[in-house]
Amino acid sequence: MSERIGIVTGGGDCPGLNAVIRAIAKAAAKRGWETIGFLGGYEGILEPQRYIQLDYQKLGSLLTRGGTILGTANRGRFSAKVGHGETRRLPRELIDGVQAGMEKLGIRGLVSIGGDGSLSIGQQLFEGGVPLVGVPKTIDNDLEGTVMTFGFDSAVACATEALDRLHTTAESHNRVLVLEVMGRYAGWIALYAGVAGGADVILIPEIPFAYDSICAKIHQREEADKHFSVIIVAEGAREKGGEFVTAADQVANREARLGGIAAVVAAEVEKRTGKEARACVLGHLQRGGSPTNFDRALCTIFGAEAVELIAAGRYGEMVAYQGSHVSAVRITEAIGRLKTVLPTGGLARTARALGVCFGD
Ligand code: F6P
Repeated sequence: MSERIGIVTGGGDCPGLNAVIRAIAKAAAKRGWETIGFLGGYEGILEPQRYIQLDYQKLGSLLTRGGTILGTANRGRFSAKVGHGETRRLPRELIDGVQAGMEKLGIRGLVSIGGDGSLSIGQQLFEGGVPLVGVPKTIDNDLEGTVMTFGFDSAVACATEALDRLHTTAESHNRVLVLEVMGRYAGWIALYAGVAGGADVILIPEIPFAYDSICAKIHQREEADKHFSVIIVAEGAREKGGEFVTAADQVANREARLGGIAAVVAAEVEKRTGKEARACVLGHLQRGGSPTNFDRALCTIFGAEAVELIAAGRYGEMVAYQGSHVSAVRITEAIGRLKTVLPTGGLARTARALGVCFGD
């Protein structure tokens, strides 16, 4: 029997997952290895096992296809996150079950494609003896150890296009339009799309905001004969001293579902300025669809490098984008602590230099 490796995808999906799967399977095939893709997250490794063989012939069109052909899971026995900074410990029998499942299929190494939650589980499996490497995935870009996760660029492209569209209608109607994007603890999508789409106000979880500041910016624009404004707000942004705005429908034993901050901001801005303000929630449009060309390339490099890590026996490591090249870091460097936006550094500094308001 030829050598075999396995792939598992966990947590929320994001553009580029299939491109990573394709790259792993192709790079493995080039070495004469077979690739098994487990279905439905880590659960697929346990009995009764659920997996597909990723033969070379099955990889056509995966580079551009959104979602994940393996399915994913962010609930159930392998769900790591119950709240910010709280990681559930895996019981020994689940680790044993994964080990047994891999041995049964003769898998020498497992690639876990995931964000903070799935990689925290991956790290526990590795510590328990499972030969595992990681690939950093999340549209939120909030994983430490890598300058960028895959999926982020595609989400920013989606949010930027939405801002472009909102701009023209805001201008026609002299309105304030508020776009809500994903970003629970980190405002990377709001910041990058906000700058790329020319938002006047960017509200992110890292910078609690004050309505006085937002309204002052809108008045200032009025005085400069700009009778419309565009605001981008991350779902995890909140007023100074305020709480997260959560969605009406919640699921037990999971992180609170966020949603609704754009409507709250729009209502308050309308009340205070007298200008008509409307909210738009981008939601899962950011997570679906085809990856951008940057993400396609990044996913391909990540997948190929993950196979290199397995070949070199570098388990417990995660491929990482360093801006100029891709290397690897210990998975422990990526998890447990989120990478957040510097309120006055990097792109936020540039935005401030151009007069963008962050509400502080
Ligand atoms: O992957 C993280 C994320 O994009 C968050 O920004 C958001 O809160 C969450 O996914 C939404 O996940 P779900 O689709 O499970 O509600």
